[in-house]
Amino acid sequence: MKILVTGAAGFIGFHTVSRLINDGHEVVGIDNLCDPATHAIKLARLSMLGIDIAALEPGKPQHSSAGSFDFIIMDILDRQAVQCLCMNRHFNCIIHLAALAGTKPSITQPEAFFDANTLGTQNMLEAARLCAVQHFFFTSSYVVHGDRAQSPLKENDDVDSPLSMYAGSKRAAELLCHTYSAAYRLPVTVFRCFTAFGSWGRPDSKPMVIAKAIADGTPITLLNDGYLVRDFTYIDDIIDGMMMALSMPPSGVHHAPYALYNIGRSKPITMLAFIQALESALGKPAIIERDHSSPLTKGESVEMYADTGKLEAELAYSPVWDYEEAVPIFGQWFAENYKITFNL
Ligand SMILES: NC(=O)c1ccc[n+]([C@@H]2O[C@H](COP(=O)([O-])OP(=O)(O)OC[C@H]3O[C@@H](n4cnc5c(N)ncnc54)[C@H](O)[C@@H]3O)[C@@H](O)[C@H]2O)c1
Repeated sequence: MKILVTGAAGFIGFHTVSRLINDGHEVVGIDNLCDPATHAIKLARLSMLGIDIAALEPGKPQHSSAGSFDFIIMDILDRQAVQCLCMNRHFNCIIHLAALAGTKPSITQPEAFFDANTLGTQNMLEAARLCAVQHFFFTSSYVVHGDRAQSPLKENDDVDSPLSMYAGSKRAAELLCHTYSAAYRLPVTVFRCFTAFGSWGRPDSKPMVIAKAIADGTPITLLNDGYLVRDFTYIDDIIDGMMMALSMPPSGVHHAPYALYNIGRSKPITMLAFIQALESALGKPAIIERDHSSPLTKGESVEMYADTGKLEAELAYSPVWDYEEAVPIFGQWFAENYKITFNL
């Protein structure tokens, strides 16, 4: 298939492109390489994908030495450039991952989050419609559930009271995905991802922040005396699930060709257990400061994990990686690449 991946220099984008190239697809990746703080890891990921990063210029495709992959520095907000690219390349499928992520930064940058996540998604949907793309895949986030939702979280829970601009911009994008699917019969699959971890992770994500604190010997504050339950999901599970979804675009005869799935490990563990596994993997103890206050006072919930029954029933896929096996792999990668990742 000819596939466009947005956010190709990001964490999930990097793993997606690697898998697609290995599986023999013809891939084009775009990313605006925003945020100087994460520039180094984005360039390192592109290098791993066979891109000559010294030759990168905005708008100019760079061909990979590792397979059928072109990378272009392009902003998804540049509607004309995106439409032109889609018209010229005749993609069968768009995997739309580009976004600004994180609840905290979204509070102080509401416009940037709306632009990248909501308007950016609309631009990609419009390009997909104009170019008659056969399948549009979008990653949303479990944050749409807010901090008081009852776990396990289900796809049909009420998610219409977002609490941050990150959640609101993603929920709005989910609704746009449904609108395009219903109004233009565009097959759309949405994954609501739970916290992903793995090699080349996003530097501000919880697993990376914890690993860095252990490596640096800086304290980790644990709310609720350490009892926080989360659904850490290994990146390979997300990519395997995505590949399954790509092979089965939603059809829908009497309704929109639209499908939304949770993707999480659905085997919740405490934050403390995850930290302990990382301590073993990195061979260093964490400095833990216990905070007895309720997580809700800091905008966090006590338990947050997915019900993946729908994914299992409809796509015949269930995540398989347990943290006991995945964290040591992540820890080894982290120990070897810590400096590149944080530009030290
Ligand atoms: N990693 C997780 O745990 C997680 C959990 C839930 C949802 N998600 C979603 O999955 C997707 C990928 O997440 P990630 O962890 O890989 O994040 P990431 O930040 O590593 O990747 C996102 C990429 O999008 C690019 N981007 C941002 N704005 C852009 C724009 N206007 N034009 C072009 N490129 C732009 C960034 O440069 C970045 O490389 C996001 O949509 C995110 O909301 C991720």
